[in-house]
Amino acid sequence: MTERVLTGITTSGTPHLGNYVGAIRPAIAASEEPGVESFFFLADYHALIKCDEPARIERSRLEIAATWLAAGLDTSRVTFYRQSDIVEIPELTWLLTCVTAKGLMNRSHAYKAAADANLMSGDDVDAGITMGLFSYPILMAADILMFNAHRVPVGRDQVQHIEMARDIAQRFNHLFGLGRELFVLPEANIDERVAMLPGLDGRKMSKSYDNTIPLFEGGAKGLREAIARVVTDSRLPGEPKDADASQLVAIFDAFASDAERASLRADLKSGLGWGDAKQRVAERIERDLGPMRARYADLMAHPERIEETLIEGAIKARAVAAPLLRELREAVGLRRMVAVGAPLSASIVASTTASATLTVGATVKAKAALPVFKQYRETDGRFYFKLAAADGRLLLQSAAFDAGRDAGQWVARLKSDGAAALAGAPVQRGEGVSVQDVADALAVLAAA
Ligand code: TRP
Repeated sequence: MTERVLTGITTSGTPHLGNYVGAIRPAIAASEEPGVESFFFLADYHALIKCDEPARIERSRLEIAATWLAAGLDTSRVTFYRQSDIVEIPELTWLLTCVTAKGLMNRSHAYKAAADANLMSGDDVDAGITMGLFSYPILMAADILMFNAHRVPVGRDQVQHIEMARDIAQRFNHLFGLGRELFVLPEANIDERVAMLPGLDGRKMSKSYDNTIPLFEGGAKGLREAIARVVTDSRLPGEPKDADASQLVAIFDAFASDAERASLRADLKSGLGWGDAKQRVAERIERDLGPMRARYADLMAHPERIEETLIEGAIKARAVAAPLLRELREAVGLRRMVAVGAPLSASIVASTTASATLTVGATVKAKAALPVFKQYRETDGRFYFKLAAADGRLLLQSAAFDAGRDAGQWVARLKSDGAAALAGAPVQRGEGVSVQDVADALAVLAAA
């Protein structure tokens, strides 16, 4: 059985070394293990809870997406998407909200910390606390349960949220599963070695402590300057130093091999100055980050490539989310009152299926001209197929195949798997045709 791994990063800031070491790098490594199916996403709905500056949200989404891609994420292997592109997630959030005890949310650390701070300062306990913050763990549960993830790599501060997701899933299974497990119970996955990268001051590297080292911003020079600001003790060059008590060394460790770690420790013990040690740390980190920074700059200069990648990811993600949500709606009793024609249910997958029209009557009937696949042979003797919209517009054109059977197999796959089969298919879109147009047409066909 494949194991599903899922994680998200809140898009409210500029990526720092802690995001890379603690989340992105281990997640990419996990996605390369055999038998693992990965879902990685930009938690941009979560970002709205913390941030009401649209320009910052916009910028952070772009930067964090570019960071994942620059760090080597292979989007043909993993499903990489924006939370806010998956319309099924807010809908699932509501279904979960209706089974979540308010008392459970009262215990959420994020909410409690804000409430405690209010009490300390003599304010009303709920001053400045939004419902978004209060029910943040339910949205997070929806992120995880929507894809039936088994394993969720997160920092230690997020473990409580995964436990809440399990509680909520259990409750939902119990109420509506009729003995079936509608939801998998997820497990938090913390890599002890990387779970907490210290920041400049030794506390967890976090934007909220203002102690971060930027990942790409400021270039190699910015990195060197940030490392120079890491707090060390006042021992002078020549004096032996305790490597294990130093956050500079902990930061180094996150990048170094065993041999490199041992050698820095030995040199500090025999008196290496902090200034020289910092230079060595900066050089070591730059060796990893330099090539990524170049890819990052290239991606940031081409937001349209990132957008396209994310739309493709959303299509793959929704191909998983939509069928599960359909099942959940059934389970809770949100059912059609009559049998419906196919294109109507297809509109659950493709919310913009304009061709589906509904006529009210004893039966609900969808009147829709369907898109068509055509397979043919050209005068060059080779085999092709194309997908035309109901109105004749060219949606997809295949490459040439030597065997008609191969063309036929792709058509069959596109028909049965819909948009999920698009990644890797030897096809080009027609002029002015978006990935979404194609996905909509395939969804209509799959349901017909
Ligand atoms: N709350 C997480 C954080 O701030 C981000 C996140 C949102 C997440 N949804 C998730 C992480 C689902 C793992 C799984 O770090």
